[in-house]
Amino acid sequence: MQGDGTNVQNGSERPTVDRRTFLEAGASAMGAGWGLAGIAPGTAASGAESGLSQSPIRVGVVGVGPRGQWHVRNLLANHSDVTVTAIADLHADRAAAAADLVRKARGTDPATYTHGEFDYRNLCERDDVDAVLIATPVYWLGRMTVDALRAGKHAAHEVAGAQTEEECWQMVDEKEKSGKRVMFLENCCYGQETMMITNMVEQGVFGEPYYAEGSYLHDCRPQFFDSSGKITWRGELWRDTYGSAYPQHGLGSNCKWLKINDGDRLESCQTMMTRPREARLHAAARFGESSGPAQVEFRTGDFVTSLIQTAQGRMIRIDYSLTCTRPYSRYYLLQGTQGCWDSRSGVFLGGGEHASGGQDGWQPLESYRDRYEHAYWRRDGEVAARFGGHGGIDYYCIYDFARMLREDKEPWIDVYDAAAWSAIIFCSKLSLDRGGARVDMPDFTRGRWKDASWRKGRIPIG
Ligand SMILES: NC(=O)c1ccc[n+]([C@@H]2O[C@H](COP(=O)([O-])OP(=O)(O)OC[C@H]3O[C@@H](n4cnc5c(N)ncnc54)[C@H](O)[C@@H]3O)[C@@H](O)[C@H]2O)c1
Repeated sequence: MQGDGTNVQNGSERPTVDRRTFLEAGASAMGAGWGLAGIAPGTAASGAESGLSQSPIRVGVVGVGPRGQWHVRNLLANHSDVTVTAIADLHADRAAAAADLVRKARGTDPATYTHGEFDYRNLCERDDVDAVLIATPVYWLGRMTVDALRAGKHAAHEVAGAQTEEECWQMVDEKEKSGKRVMFLENCCYGQETMMITNMVEQGVFGEPYYAEGSYLHDCRPQFFDSSGKITWRGELWRDTYGSAYPQHGLGSNCKWLKINDGDRLESCQTMMTRPREARLHAAARFGESSGPAQVEFRTGDFVTSLIQTAQGRMIRIDYSLTCTRPYSRYYLLQGTQGCWDSRSGVFLGGGEHASGGQDGWQPLESYRDRYEHAYWRRDGEVAARFGGHGGIDYYCIYDFARMLREDKEPWIDVYDAAAWSAIIFCSKLSLDRGGARVDMPDFTRGRWKDASWRKGRIPIG
């Protein structure tokens, strides 16, 4: 799923030799639809610049479709102390294209693994791979993370992460056994607005946050079938399962604001869903009423809403759809005891310095930017936005991945977040199976969430 509806090119795209053109090719690959004219090299601190790491960080990348290839570009362009030593993909041409990027940027030839679905395990075993970055279709993400950890490597995986409770527990157990790091690449947590709200929450502007809404409404129907009418993994996801199957773009920031795993936890969920209509209508319009795609029986309804109750009596609502006829939408709301942010309305503050009288209606979030812009975006937000990748959020997401490896510290979005945020995938499905009943959610921290500071060794993002 694209986080933004961008049309990324496939791995056959070839950049030209010089660094500037290499970067520009990346911007056009990922930035289409964002109006990006061109980009300059990023300024993210590399180990070489910061003096934190003397030896290069060696990453193996599994899955170099549009998303994985973009991560390769991002790492090479913005982190001079990081290199890619190995690449795995089912398609040899995609692996070769990604290898070409490395050759042009670093002058080295990464090993490629293209012999079937489990060849990536050979990549994981390599001595010259420190960390494995995984950008394969969703049903591979959990098991590949587990395999990387078992091979003694750090790991990072894409959204939507692990699909089953068993995979979530395996990730947590293997991470704890191995002592390696796991980062969940939930890029929407790094948005300019969502990070600003994170900063405002940290500074107590909203008082105690107790209710949040998040959403991911992205019409991906054109990606359910390829041009020949063959169903893709995105179409399979919509056909074979149901519930909030790709929830984290809406859920991640909510969890950060409500201190999930840092003093609270996701305790139970209830899910409701409409009947499926729109995927079939689209397939029939595209391929014809009597075509194969038009006969596919999709199981996910067009609009899915999950309500999550937390252990501390807070609540989160997540809206999700890949088929609604509407432009890409990702709206959020945060309600606290001293105010509210609604991404569709603005900010209202009625506590703190406004305690003697609330503001006069909604104020634009923009009016708080000078005071509360997050440190990341204040530092090099223009560079991030110019580099592209969903408007700059990918820049910071990969920045934190590189930081995790460079500083050898737990990331801001760690394995416990990955497991908790993925749990809604199978819990929402179970809730639907039980007619919308309340379903208990697992506690992957095994009770440690009660201590709000148990993860204080993590990389600070302030
Ligand atoms: N966070 C975001 O904003 C965002 C955006 C786009 C995609 N994604 C996620 O990134 C992942 C990849 O997305 P994409 O659009 O590039 O998908 P894609 O299907 O175009 O590419 C996936 C690649 O993985 C390869 N692959 C599949 N199984 C493999 C295996 N067993 N071993 C090695 N390679 C294998 C495929 O050959 C393909 O090249 C998905 O999980 C998707 O949900 C996230």
